[in-house]
Amino acid sequence: MTKSTINSISPDQRAVEQQLVDTVIASFDRTENARLKQLMQALTRHLHDFIREVRLTENEWDKAIEFLTAAGHITDDKRQEFILLSDVLGASMQTVAVNNETIGNATEATVFGPFFLEDAPEIPLGGDIAGGAAGRPCWVEGTVTDTEGRPVPNARIEVWEADDAGFYDAQYSDGRVAGRAHLFSDEQGKYSFWGLTPTPYPIPHDGPVGKMLAATNRSPVRASHLHFMVTAENLRTLVTHIFVEGDPQLEIGDSVFGVKESLIKRFEQMPAGAPTPDGRDLRDQAWARTRFDIVLARTRL
Ligand code: BEZ
Ligand code: FE
Repeated sequence: MTKSTINSISPDQRAVEQQLVDTVIASFDRTENARLKQLMQALTRHLHDFIREVRLTENEWDKAIEFLTAAGHITDDKRQEFILLSDVLGASMQTVAVNNETIGNATEATVFGPFFLEDAPEIPLGGDIAGGAAGRPCWVEGTVTDTEGRPVPNARIEVWEADDAGFYDAQYSDGRVAGRAHLFSDEQGKYSFWGLTPTPYPIPHDGPVGKMLAATNRSPVRASHLHFMVTAENLRTLVTHIFVEGDPQLEIGDSVFGVKESLIKRFEQMPAGAPTPDGRDLRDQAWARTRFDIVLARTRL
């Protein structure tokens, strides 16, 4: 509890409240799984601290239950309101921070988000992830290395992104697979593919999380980004994005707190007709190119 709150509560009242906290914590004493016991007891302590600090009213608690109930009702296999809630509260990014300690020059991780799907199609090096998704083509290339600078061949690189209307394929009801794929780095750890130039988009905000953002005068918009998940043997799995240098949303703020300076990349804008790296014919369409060198940390032995 904050000092001012503590001061305004009588010692007797404080003792009643503390007695309840102690009793609930003790109720978990016989938990056999030591980690579960730690989690439940700490959760109890922090939850009661919160209730006591803000002097939560019964009406407010009812509203909180209503909010969580609505989040449950809108959640299905395509829409995960609890992930959105975790994201906009910064809980996802804090969990990322706790679990992805900086190791040497390893690429920084960021929030996973709810739109990754297993079984995205495989594309060859230089292939196109668009699958019909609308947007300005963007050539993405780089290397995968470990923190000693050794190339990582055969790293599995999953990439996914929204189209230029701001929607992931999973948000359409027609079952399309677009704006996502996986590919493998070559013998020198190099990779390349055609994606779409990322654009800012709002996280789904037609549900309880959106209402909470509106009530607190917060924007649902995410800074433009392209998602990556990179896995390779004996190396730490990296879940991250790259962001677009100069995107005004970077200044305004990212609704899920995912931006890290090191992940902001230059996206060079190329006019229609400029020669493409692989000879793709884009004589009628402007395109962009960027480079993202990925450094994976060793997993701890
Ligand atoms: C995303 O980047 O895909 C995302 C992240 C958090 C919430 C919603 C979407
Ligand atoms: Fe995203």
